[in-house]
Amino acid sequence: MKRRNILKMDHFLSVSTLSNETILSLIHRALDYKNGATYHFLEPKFIANMFVEESTRTRYSFEMAQLHLGLKVLEYDTNSSSVSKGESLYDAALTFSALGVDALVIRSYDEHFYDQLLSSSNMTCSLINAGDGAGQHPSQSMMDLMTIYEHFGRFEGLKIGIVGDIVNSSVANSNSQALTRLGAQVYFSGPTDWLCGKCIKLGDVISLDDMVDTVDVLMCLRARPKERGLTLTVQQYFEQFGVTVERAKRMKENAIIMHTGPVNRNVDIADELVEDQKSKIIVQTKNSVFMNMAILEAILV
Ligand code: CP
Repeated sequence: MKRRNILKMDHFLSVSTLSNETILSLIHRALDYKNGATYHFLEPKFIANMFVEESTRTRYSFEMAQLHLGLKVLEYDTNSSSVSKGESLYDAALTFSALGVDALVIRSYDEHFYDQLLSSSNMTCSLINAGDGAGQHPSQSMMDLMTIYEHFGRFEGLKIGIVGDIVNSSVANSNSQALTRLGAQVYFSGPTDWLCGKCIKLGDVISLDDMVDTVDVLMCLRARPKERGLTLTVQQYFEQFGVTVERAKRMKENAIIMHTGPVNRNVDIADELVEDQKSKIIVQTKNSVFMNMAILEAILV
């Protein structure tokens, strides 16, 4: 397979800084990887993964992508590093940069953690944002966009419904920004207290029952009603805002269900639907490896 032109990136921080051309280029490269393309850098490349917030899908999909690309990988272990002595993420990242890594993959609780790092002349490596609190989750977003494009072959005219904890979701932010720019129409649904935040103006708020009848993609966010201050019980949340089997049956024939992960079975989505034929949840996870390969290549090339 002939290697397509790669659009070089210095950092990967937010979908808002990616042009539509870059988004499509990453999707096509990720699909090439899925179809069997391989790539190895001519010189050794060093990566450090710094996941200071818990993660399964993002962390290990980056690790798999790094192994496929033959990268030299350092894992920042928050249990055995100097975090317990009070070392900040900023200082730890400066340390890795001084040690000579080419890029850092960082998951943090703090929105815009990268601003301070980018202002330092000692930060000489690339930064990849693997989720910054309620800010952005650009690698997840790119994997979601790849999954949608793979199924429909386009974004223009698609109707995308995002349901759940909109205000706290970095994925809702990233996806609604990218999808509206690519020509899709975004709709939001969820408890009133969660229907606010940065992205809410990008789409129409509708009821979940109207949403399931209308949309091509039903994107379900992880819901934690108690932790996020709702008075609803888990059962009440599921009845009012969960993707139930009954709701899924009313979706259009070619429509798909996606989830930001990790799933909360029988809270935000019915247990039976996670591996249903309408569900792309497992495909999303598979695609995350190929998309992260495309992102890493564009950073390190
Ligand atoms: N979707 C997502 O970010 O999952 P993790 O928190 O497991 O990485």
